[in-house]
Amino acid sequence: MKKTTTVTTNSPTTSKTKNKVGTALKPKVFTKRYVQIFSRHPSHNELRRKILSPVRTCMRFGSHTEKPDKYEVEINLASRIDNSANKLLMKRMFTKAGVKTAAWVDPSECTAASGKTVANEVAKLEFPIIAKHIFGSKNRGNTKIDTPEQLTAWLKGKTLTNYIFEKFHNFNREYRLHVTPEGYFYACRKMLKNETPDDKRWYRNDDNSIWVTEFTPIRDSKQLIIGESATDNPGFDRPVNWKEIAAECVKALNAVGLDFGACDVRVQASKDSKGKVRPTADFIIIEINSAPGLGTLGVIKYKEMIPKLRNYKLNKK
Ligand SMILES: Nc1ncnc2c1ncn2[C@@H]1O[C@H](COP(=O)(O)OP(=O)(O)O)[C@@H](O)[C@H]1O
Ligand SMILES: [Mg+2]
Repeated sequence: MKKTTTVTTNSPTTSKTKNKVGTALKPKVFTKRYVQIFSRHPSHNELRRKILSPVRTCMRFGSHTEKPDKYEVEINLASRIDNSANKLLMKRMFTKAGVKTAAWVDPSECTAASGKTVANEVAKLEFPIIAKHIFGSKNRGNTKIDTPEQLTAWLKGKTLTNYIFEKFHNFNREYRLHVTPEGYFYACRKMLKNETPDDKRWYRNDDNSIWVTEFTPIRDSKQLIIGESATDNPGFDRPVNWKEIAAECVKALNAVGLDFGACDVRVQASKDSKGKVRPTADFIIIEINSAPGLGTLGVIKYKEMIPKLRNYKLNKK
């Protein structure tokens, strides 16, 4: 049976409130119920009080908020948020689930008893490598290290359990795929801005990159984006093994136990150094984010996805 969508405030003061002439006011009645968005990212404000839901639903974007209210559907459990926010937990889960990711070193395994040292284990990855703070974001907390000498200098004075170390793959394409257990529902390519200086070209973030959507956006008469067409965006340069990449992103999502997330994927160029088209493209899942910032099209895509994901979760109960 369909549940009612009428809810009343449970504020004990509501029914006692009086208007100016002393008549008791009726309790405030909400006839609409919206998916509750738990997020501190301003771009997610566009999703607040926008998505109606017949069942109490909340959605966490990187938020640990445990609300006392009972939600029938919780999209991204609070207990799973750290599985992607903490790069150490995330990589451990990726490794356990066999997700295709860069080879890495967990410093906590480099104990006196094991006979392993971080310097030796990292050197086995082959340089360059990236040292990543486990709570870094937007590439803050990441350092590219090119030589053993640089590593020795970098290691001095660091609390190593705050970091992980990864092999650096110089693949020239990077994508972000937003996924649910049912597959990806939105994808962009991150492309370096031409003016980016050489020392900042090894990574992609909002400061040095632009976002190219998979399909060309549809715009209204004021040039505002109102949707996505079915026409490929030429700059997107979809990898030949796109399906395989998308499936690996879902695997990454399941590995960390989230309901939705945005995967950063670095992908080999479509042509080799001699200009020959490659039959496939090597790639690595760099990470999965539970609080991706959203542009106009991203918000549109999430508004379409959220009710579907809610229904998917309801059916799984
Ligand atoms: N192993 C790697 N090989 C190549 N590039 C990488 C690797 N790890 C990170 N990067 C680059 O650095 C960027 C930021 O790294 P990421 O792990 O996503 O950290 P953050 O949480 O700061 O976004 C990635 O988007 C990618 O461009
Ligand atoms: Mg990232």
